[in-house]
Amino acid sequence: MDNYVRIFDTTLRDGEQSPGASMTSAEKLEVARALARLGVDIIEAGFPAASPDDLEAVRRIAIEVGNPFGAESTPGPTRRPIICGLARANKSDIDKAWEAVKPAARPRIHTFLATSPIHMKFKLKMDPEQVIDRVAEMVAYARSLCEDVEFSPEDAGRSDPEFLYVVLEQAIKAGATTLNIPDTVGYTTPEEYGALIAGIAQHVPGIANVVISTHCHDDLGLATANTLAGVRSGARQVEVTINGIGERAGNTSLEEVVMALHTRRPVFSLTTGIDTPQITRVSKLVSNYTSMVVPPNKAIVGANAFAHEAGIHQDGMLKHHQTYEIMRPETVGAQHTRLVLGKHSGRHALKMRLQELGFALSDADLDKAFERFKALADKKKIITDADLEALISDEIYQPHEYFTLDGMQVACGTMGLPTATVRLNGPGGKPHVFAAIGTGPVDASFKAIDAVVQAPNTLLEYSVHAVTEGIDAIGEVTVRIQSHDVAPTMNAQNETERVRTFGGYGADTDIIVASAKAYLSALNKLLVTTGQYGPAEAAAEVAGARPPHNGHT
Ligand code: KIV
Ligand code: ZN
Repeated sequence: MDNYVRIFDTTLRDGEQSPGASMTSAEKLEVARALARLGVDIIEAGFPAASPDDLEAVRRIAIEVGNPFGAESTPGPTRRPIICGLARANKSDIDKAWEAVKPAARPRIHTFLATSPIHMKFKLKMDPEQVIDRVAEMVAYARSLCEDVEFSPEDAGRSDPEFLYVVLEQAIKAGATTLNIPDTVGYTTPEEYGALIAGIAQHVPGIANVVISTHCHDDLGLATANTLAGVRSGARQVEVTINGIGERAGNTSLEEVVMALHTRRPVFSLTTGIDTPQITRVSKLVSNYTSMVVPPNKAIVGANAFAHEAGIHQDGMLKHHQTYEIMRPETVGAQHTRLVLGKHSGRHALKMRLQELGFALSDADLDKAFERFKALADKKKIITDADLEALISDEIYQPHEYFTLDGMQVACGTMGLPTATVRLNGPGGKPHVFAAIGTGPVDASFKAIDAVVQAPNTLLEYSVHAVTEGIDAIGEVTVRIQSHDVAPTMNAQNETERVRTFGGYGADTDIIVASAKAYLSALNKLLVTTGQYGPAEAAAEVAGARPPHNGHT
């Protein structure tokens, strides 16, 4: 048994399935680049059968991140990660996954079928023999296309272990190279999950020739503990996401598992290929792009993870940092952000620093970033890495924008009614100006924007925080909205209905402006995804046929 644990990152697949966490293709590509630099071994880039856009996003990642010839200008490791696409156990899904991942130097198809009694009976309506036959047939089919095939018995945590052994034996015989054991609903305890992996390692014929993988959900807050128990029982691949995002309560978080193995090396005697000082930066990138705010007390990457408040703790820290610190902040890249650039820095300096941070921008995007950088440098003397990252997230990797903020003005305080006037550019650059009153400046701004955009929604969450310390800090705002429509979910064996959530992110030294940008970014995602603003409607508006607003303030 080797002592290397493969890190299989599924932020772009299971993570992106979190309500509201959807990313644009440009954002997905940027996250994939960051994951490659972080040193993950396998990137599960998406679920290509979900839609043509999903397939194309995975294909782009396979070409640009999984292929040394795809993007020679992209800084990154010489060893390219395996690029994996998920497929249900049917030929059409497997064909689409293969089409998406095959440009990668090292492609993988990951196919799955449920094996728990409840899933087989109610969801699949298949009996156990049919499941065994389908697994053998579809794994063999995937293997006829791709040398690297992973199979997952979905809901393995609630499956009968004896039945699992039979299914897994068939998967190995059909050519699977990795067997992933999902605790799909986060039901098991560490003892149970560890025993499940140990039983598989002991009883499945041919298991020694394949890699056993863990995949744990966090419904009971046990995902990391279960994953570590699986590793101790012989699993050598862990499926994880940045910040632990994922379906419902999320997946096992990459940073927790990696840092547990790193910090408690004598206990585990295991290594990973992760460049740990990059963890905080990638966490931030994913948080910005998915609009999933990291709680301050989140292990490893929370804002308070290395903060010491109590007097006794501070006193101890001053005497010896190990009194209250089990790992150094710099080991995960959480040290204070550095002063990097200022008012007099030029375009070249900005380009070099952005490249060091891992952003490979086109000339046009660099021009936009430089313009924003100069405007920011006029307001803020010290520009840090964190400021640059916020600026790039806000300016460059926004979804297709039907409406952009051209300008706004707000009056608020204790002397009158909070009033906001917004000037938006709509499709074709058509200007719309609208004013509204609200309970406060943010409410008034959102109301004015609503009057122009007319996309009914409910605001679920609004949060604001400062990127760096100081009164001149950039404010980052994330919002989550819910559309008032229902749509079929992409990842169900039998499709069901769900209401969709969209996240938006905005950054500015003025938090009301940042709020308006974040709200517009979520609305633009809503319009694109729900098809409420297709090309025909955009054209109608340019021609003046669609009323620009509903006429109330
Ligand atoms: O949780 C799960 O079962 C999954 C599988 C598709 C691997 O995400
Ligand atoms: Zn999952």
